[in-house]
Amino acid sequence: MTTEPIPVVLDVDTGVDDACALLLAALHPAVDLRAVSCVGGNAPVDDVVRNTLLVLETAGRADVPVARGAERPLLEPPLHARHVHGEDGLGDLGWPAAETTPDPRHAVELLRDVCRAAAGESRPVTLVPLAPLTNIALLLRTHPDVAAGISEIVFMGGAAHVGNATASAEFNIFHDPEAAAITLDAAADLGIPVTMYGLDVFYQPVVGKAEAAELVAVGGRGPAELGGRLMDFQRQRLGGEVATIGDAGAVCAVIDRGVLRTETLPLRVELAGTWSRGRTIVDRRDWSGAIKHDPHGEAPVRVDVALGVDGERYARLWVDTLLGRVGTR
Ligand code: RIB
Ligand code: CA
Repeated sequence: MTTEPIPVVLDVDTGVDDACALLLAALHPAVDLRAVSCVGGNAPVDDVVRNTLLVLETAGRADVPVARGAERPLLEPPLHARHVHGEDGLGDLGWPAAETTPDPRHAVELLRDVCRAAAGESRPVTLVPLAPLTNIALLLRTHPDVAAGISEIVFMGGAAHVGNATASAEFNIFHDPEAAAITLDAAADLGIPVTMYGLDVFYQPVVGKAEAAELVAVGGRGPAELGGRLMDFQRQRLGGEVATIGDAGAVCAVIDRGVLRTETLPLRVELAGTWSRGRTIVDRRDWSGAIKHDPHGEAPVRVDVALGVDGERYARLWVDTLLGRVGTR
């Protein structure tokens, strides 16, 4: 029995690893990529739109609507990560710009319309935010009816144990902590299940020099070459023998959920801490007495937190998809 492709919507701040996620979602036969919304994060939002259109057109998916969303966080001034993703946000590869133009709607309107249509078809989407959650917070609070068109949220962000933007906080959450808190609170209010694909698993699916070379060798300015060149850029920029497919791991989790180990745990976002603002406080206490005497009480929001992954399997899935070895869309 053939299973229907999974309706998916991505929210991105393209970025090298967002591009890896876009390539996988655009090409894998198990994914029905319905739309992509853009938000400022790794790069300014107009660079994100430009980069996203380029990646989708390279993958032969100029049919997927792309819309421009929030330029900046709800409260924080914008931060960019050019030191990681390059001046243009896409590895400074000099890749040919797309001819495709963005959807004229604001990203929140595109997300609203796609989720409402999905509800109407009784085929709710898996919403995959891979960036600061500003668009998602605005969507859920402005148009709560969209919950009928969302089967689950699988977001890349946060961590149970580590940080990267700071010692406490992961970049997507640190960039807009209020948006993260609002998104998680609204999803709980609206009964939307949430999986957090955080730093505890984010760095495990990696691609080495040889695999990147195999992708680049396909050439033709196609998706495989683009993916390989992005991995080469990241490996050279960050140093080391391998590069993580990063955000693409969250799309792997949608395709191949079985090898992602999660626990459903209470979670809060720190909004006030001087050194801990933006931290996702995952409560892993297993002694109920601790909570009874805890003046904070148990967090009302519970999330499926990813704590383990078969990184090799996800990296193989990504490479094989770009090489066209995983069936055809
Ligand atoms: O912390 C990693 C996250 O921040 C990824 O989404 C990466 O693209 C950056 O946005
Ligand atoms: Ca990202």
